[in-house]
Amino acid sequence: MTVTTVVGAQWGDEGKGRIVDYLAQEAELVIRFQGGDNAGHTVINEYGKFALHLVPSGIFNAGTRCIVGAGTVVNLDTLLTELADLEAAGVETSQLFIDERAHLILPFHRQLDGAEERARTGDWAVGTTKRGIGPTYADKSGRHGIRVGELLDPAWLKERLEQLVLRKNRELAHFDLRPVSVDELLALCAGWREQVGGRIVDTLPLIREAVKAGRDILLEGQLGVMRGLDWGIYPFVTSSSPTAGGACVGAGIPPRAIDEVLGITKVYATSVGGGPFPTELEDETGERLRQVGGEYGATTGRPRRCGWLDGVALGYAGWINGFTGIAATKLDVLDSFEELRICVGYRLGQEVLRHVPTTRVQEQVEPIYEAWPGWLADTTDIRRWADLPGNAQRYLRRVEELAGAPLRYVSVGPEREQLIVL
Ligand code: IMP
Repeated sequence: MTVTTVVGAQWGDEGKGRIVDYLAQEAELVIRFQGGDNAGHTVINEYGKFALHLVPSGIFNAGTRCIVGAGTVVNLDTLLTELADLEAAGVETSQLFIDERAHLILPFHRQLDGAEERARTGDWAVGTTKRGIGPTYADKSGRHGIRVGELLDPAWLKERLEQLVLRKNRELAHFDLRPVSVDELLALCAGWREQVGGRIVDTLPLIREAVKAGRDILLEGQLGVMRGLDWGIYPFVTSSSPTAGGACVGAGIPPRAIDEVLGITKVYATSVGGGPFPTELEDETGERLRQVGGEYGATTGRPRRCGWLDGVALGYAGWINGFTGIAATKLDVLDSFEELRICVGYRLGQEVLRHVPTTRVQEQVEPIYEAWPGWLADTTDIRRWADLPGNAQRYLRRVEELAGAPLRYVSVGPEREQLIVL
């Protein structure tokens, strides 16, 4: 009976979805606590292969209630498509709820996201997913945003939209984009109300009851700390906090109710979008990691930047989140590499840094590597720690040491059962 938070320990795409999919088999409640349909969790199970953007991966477990939490931003069209796909595959979706405090992504948010990206010059593009995440969170913190629950009250919604549209049309005009009208937004919202209105609730009573009853609860984040708004490589970040602290705020669970914080890290590193990435390999080895690891974005299909594991960033993620355990994913991708490297420090001129500096400084550092021998053996059929090659065990123990928390899971392939539980 635990409350477990699953967070990304890198730049996102660590394989959180498959770990949540595994843990959700026991969970009674799964809550997605931040982000929107910029996420892309690929889950492969007996129902098929799904790229989930919004729906928590717990949806596949019939007994599990799933919540799109208060801290998220929601594109209801994406949600409806996802639900339709799941239902077509025979997945039961009646236990999916959306918190009334989550914010609505409206079509102009996506347009503004694209326009803002195009307006960034030189190397300053964030490389956003253009899903409207930044503009929606900006409206939320600017106190103009529309909460999902406001859909349920047309008269109130009309007044809120009138206020918002006044501002937004000035912004849209700035980018030569078509103005929006309150009427078209109201019509869009009416359609959404009809299709998902029954799923929009105040989730806090459900959550409080579940915590008090000691149920197994999973909090599922998107992205990783290095793309987090506060502690990531700002401004090349998303607009919410994908950390254990963010989980408490976004889900509505007090910090002291969290029992476990599971950090998910690949055994190498990837990043999508702009900004510093000290261990990036822009050579054959990087290309090999990309090919063997199938490193293309689940949401945008973009090739991911690939590199060696950054142990400094991993230690930073461990501190910010307070990991109580870690899961190391995609071990099998390294099966054919003769020599591996792990970054254990950064060189900055004459100085050696053992911590993650701010973005400006991170752009200038050179990684300091440790070399590790590969294991040159197929690990995809291994299910017990003791059966892993010695070199793989030693490499993973080093990963554990750098993360500062015990290794709990090792994944050796995308299927649900390709997992070693320690
Ligand atoms: P946004 O979240 O779409 O605003 O994008 C902000 C930054 O986070 C960009 O650099 C994106 O490439 C990155 N990002 C957003 N979602 C994901 C994801 O699911 N995986 C990896 N990177 C992402």
